[in-house]
Formats: sequence, C-alpha cells, structure tokens
Amino acid sequence: MNRIAVITGANRGIGLAIARDLADRGLVVIMTCRDEMKGKKALKELENDNRKISFYPMDVTNVESIYMLKNFLRTKYAAIDVLINNAGIISSSTSISASGIEEIRSVMGTNFFGPIEVTQALLPLLQKSQDARIINISSGMGAREDLDGSYAGYRLSKAGLNNFTQMLASDLDGSKVKVYSMCPGWVKTDMGGPAAPRTVEEGADTAVWLATETPAPETGKFYRDRKIISY
Ligand SMILES: NC(=O)c1ccc[n+]([C@@H]2O[C@H](COP(=O)([O-])OP(=O)(O)OC[C@H]3O[C@@H](n4cnc5c(N)ncnc54)[C@H](OP(=O)(O)O)[C@@H]3O)[C@@H](O)[C@H]2O)c1
Repeated sequence: MNRIAVITGANRGIGLAIARDLADRGLVVIMTCRDEMKGKKALKELENDNRKISFYPMDVTNVESIYMLKNFLRTKYAAIDVLINNAGIISSSTSISASGIEEIRSVMGTNFFGPIEVTQALLPLLQKSQDARIINISSGMGAREDLDGSYAGYRLSKAGLNNFTQMLASDLDGSKVKVYSMCPGWVKTDMGGPAAPRTVEEGADTAVWLATETPAPETGKFYRDRKIISY
C-alpha cells in the first residue's frame, strides 16, 4: 500500500521540492496551496507517469477550506500517513518592541494557528495510520537559544510552532503518531532570497527523511540535517 502524504504550501519553494521527492519515493502526494491556479500549475510541473500526485486547494488561515480538504480526504482515503505543515510567511525584520500587533497577528495566523488547525482537523485520519508522521517546518530563528528581538512576528510564530510540536508529541506519546519540528537551513526560495546557500532539495531533505525513515526518528524533537538540534 502506498503511503499518503499531505503538504501545505506545496506550489513553490521547499513545499514543492518535498512533494517532488516524496512522489519519487512512491508516496501518494496531495499538494495543497491557497491559490488554485498556482496549485494546478505546480501539479502540471510535477506530473508524470510514475508519480501519484494530486492537488487540492487549502488556505491554512481559512477554516472552511481546511474542513473542505478534510472532507475530501475522508471520502477518498481510509488514513493519512504524513502531514507536512510547510506553508509559511516571513515578517518584516522589525523588532519586538516596535512590531505592529497586526503584523504579528498575521504571521502567527499562518505559521502558528494554521498548522494547529490543519493538524487538529486531520488528526483523526492520521490516527488511522499504522505509522503516522506530522512534520512542522520551523526555523532556527524560533530556537530559544538563538532568539533575539528582530523579525518579531516570524520568531514568535516559529517558537510557538516548536512548542506545539513538543506539546502534541507529549499528548500522542505511545501512539502511532510521531510529531517533529525541522529547520531546513537558509534556502534559496522566494522567502530565503537569492543569497541563500541551500537549494530547495537540500532544504527538503530532512523533512523527506522524517517522513520516510524506518524506524521513525525520535518524536517530539527539533531536527536539522537529519540530526536533533536544541529547541
Ligand atoms: N527559505 C528559507 O530559508 C527558510 C528557512 C527556515 C524555514 N523556512 C520555512 O520553510 C517553509 C517554506 O518556506 P519557503 O522558503 O519555501 O517559502 P516560499 O517560497 O515563500 O513558499 C511559501 C509557501 O507557503 C504558502 N503559503 C503562504 N501562506 C499560506 C496560506 N495562508 N495558506 C496556504 N499556503 C500558504 C505560499 O503560497 P503562495 O504561493 O500562495 O504565497 C507558498 O507555497 C516556511 O514555513 C518557512 O518559514 C524557510
């Protein structure tokens, strides 16, 4: 049986690279993104005879679209094996003392509340898998030991996402659902910019490894380059 993976924000950047790699490893991949046109274009880019890949629209800040995806998945699949919470936005570099609350709210909405809501919606389907993995694409910018005041909205959102990983892993400890945070490093994407040293394939590598490695890596931890790093 092919394992089934759902990826958020899969139309470009690291999410698209994860979709390509997982499909090449034989997983059934459901790419999601908020813009239907962009999603269909990305799907066209990846489609070939060997890849089992499809697209469904979802905005991680829109509860209606999250539940439409959930209903679609429920009618089509008995279980989901992998959820990759990849969709994300960056904030301005403004410091925590000067950041507008609206900007912080907006970034938290996509990077923090989004993954929580998507995960809660899909958890019943993940719990039907014999070996489920939830992978939260975080950032070293949210690591406690590296926190400074800059990029306030972004750092807060990724620090929060890391806490979500730890809390959910603790909740689900002893079950068949493993939960991970991972940092892709600094990656050449629209978010990372052209000066970033890593390719999208390098950025995707640890997420793909967490999704496919047997036996499953240790739950509740923060990973970079396939190794546990400090929260
Ligand atoms: N690039 C880096 O150096 C780096 C470093 C550390 C962590 N990360 C993390 O890696 C993840 C992917 O980043 P990336 O570099 O690939 O960024 P990217 O190229 O800017 O892609 C971001 C993706 O998220 C999607 N997205 C944004 N808001 C969304 C929403 N409300 N609902 C659904 N999808 C939404 C975007 O869709 P649209 O096309 O519709 O905007 C796009 O597909 C992010 O979580 C980011 O924080 C990146």
